[in-house]
Amino acid sequence: MKINKINKSRLETVDFDNLSFGSIFSDHMLICEFKNCKWNEPEIKPYGPLKLSPGTQALHYGQSIFEGMKAFKSKKDNVLLFRPDKNLERINNSAKRLSIPQIPKDVFIDGLKALVRIDSDWVSKRDGYSLYIRPFVFGSSECIKANSSNDFTFVIITSPTMNYYSDPIDILIEQKFTRAMKGGVGFTKASGNYAASFYPTSLAEEKGYTQLLWTDGINHENIEESGTMNIWFRIKDKLVTPELTDSILPGITRNSILTLASEMNLKVEERTISISEIINSFKNKTLLEAFGSGTAVVLSKIRSISYNEEKYYLPNQEGSYCDKIKTKLVSIQRGDIEDTNNWTVSV
Ligand SMILES: Cc1ncc(COP(=O)(O)O)c(C=O)c1O
Repeated sequence: MKINKINKSRLETVDFDNLSFGSIFSDHMLICEFKNCKWNEPEIKPYGPLKLSPGTQALHYGQSIFEGMKAFKSKKDNVLLFRPDKNLERINNSAKRLSIPQIPKDVFIDGLKALVRIDSDWVSKRDGYSLYIRPFVFGSSECIKANSSNDFTFVIITSPTMNYYSDPIDILIEQKFTRAMKGGVGFTKASGNYAASFYPTSLAEEKGYTQLLWTDGINHENIEESGTMNIWFRIKDKLVTPELTDSILPGITRNSILTLASEMNLKVEERTISISEIINSFKNKTLLEAFGSGTAVVLSKIRSISYNEEKYYLPNQEGSYCDKIKTKLVSIQRGDIEDTNNWTVSV
């Protein structure tokens, strides 16, 4: 791997008390080009603009996918990645569906480790802080014929961050627009999935909601996921979450919660959840909590769910499953408790 370091770090110019998510980038980035049917040697270099032709394929056809993950600093100053193998697996599932070549493990995992090691001073030890990592790959051939790109560019950039939503959120059940359809690309982190969600989300934001709760694209009857989070409900003492389909993003936080909940002897079900079940459970007081899970938000409590002009406020969530699971997950991610599942990887 080629390494070209910056002369002077920008770290001292960053105001860590006022970080807005995803807008400050650390000193270095990794770039690796796919040309003539093979990946070239990756290069770590100073963070800066990419040189792109206006004919770049991804700008026209959106042949572009990404990942989102975090690095944490432990009390002993170890920098830890959380389940990077799962991000590699998911980016390669996305790549296959979007006709993008598989990213080799040494480019992804070794590149990630080397990049985060070089910028390890950017990983803050403060509570709730981490280094958000954004690997992405896009079709970079200079050709606007509507077919797959021949060349691709894989990049990793990183951004210091603090937790996304600190207060419980208000979500609106979406009844008109669709995030993803059966047979489509909802299970991938295709850039276009996000572009298509911005307009419906902005309509909900204008009405004061934090996020949308997406429903199935056929009848808008079953719950899928919310914003960039998988969704969880506690009905009596059972934790329920929609089972994975090809229109739901298989969250790594979701997968980790399934393991932690079973270790904590909580009852969990992955199954179809209809809107009417949620509304009925609210009405008969068996819906005790709801939360979202994702890398950016970790676990985020839901304060209210709105449907058909009704706003349903969830009960007081003291001693919630959400708090218990979040505490355990964050403690593992930061190396505060034993990582019995070998999820963390030191850089
Ligand atoms: C649409 C969507 N759903 C769910 C998630 C949660 O996935 P993860 O826990 O891997 O961050 C994300 C974030 O990546 C997302 O973009």
